[in-house]
Amino acid sequence: MGKRICIIGCGPGDTDLITLKGKRAIEEADVIAGSRRLLTDFVKGDYATTIILENNYQDILEEVDRIRKDKRVAFLVSGDPLLYSLGESIIKRFGRDNCEVIPGISSFQYAFCQLKESWRDYRVFSLHGNKDMDLNKTFKENKRFILLLDPKQNLKFIKGAVKLTHEQGYTFYIASNLSMPTENISRVSFEDLDSFPEESLSILIVRRGDE
Ligand SMILES: C[S@@+](CC[C@H](N)C(=O)[O-])C[C@H]1O[C@@H](n2cnc3c(N)ncnc32)[C@H](O)[C@@H]1O
Repeated sequence: MGKRICIIGCGPGDTDLITLKGKRAIEEADVIAGSRRLLTDFVKGDYATTIILENNYQDILEEVDRIRKDKRVAFLVSGDPLLYSLGESIIKRFGRDNCEVIPGISSFQYAFCQLKESWRDYRVFSLHGNKDMDLNKTFKENKRFILLLDPKQNLKFIKGAVKLTHEQGYTFYIASNLSMPTENISRVSFEDLDSFPEESLSILIVRRGDE
């Protein structure tokens, strides 16, 4: 058995939004894997070897399996490490006992803090890399929910896929680039969903009925 692999929640954008424990784990790692953005933002100095995660997850997991006996490996993931995240695949690959998970702040948690509202009545779904989701069913079965988007499964895609009417009383908030200098949280009407200039990092908050 090798050393424990550490999965660290970072961001969702601002480098101050990481736990002290997460920061320490990054400093103690021999090898750090993460997206180019997370590595640039959260690894300061060249004390560790870095591995850029792109579309090469399987190869990287194999490589980590080879080195983990001797090296402390950290994976940087965005937000909550177990919410629609690579964190799940890492645990599946190496086993619960061989991983430590350090929580991070999810994009949706951050958005609700900015709105000064509780998210307790909301469910969370993801359209990120998931074009087969039954959106009409999701809209029908849930009065309040959050949708993680991606550059393809975006507002325009939702407008085209869902049949809604004005009378159903929907409220939409689009929250983009959360905790970054270009952060934007806007209320959008259903009519304007396909013309709103959203960013590639966005979530949609959906509410039907009462404000
Ligand atoms: C692979 S999921 C990761 C979710 C992440 N684990 C979390 O807890 O937020 C990536 C999606 O999360 C959302 N996201 C992540 N960071 C964001 C940010 N700073 N602003 C807006 N949305 C963000 C976007 O919908 C993005 O496509």
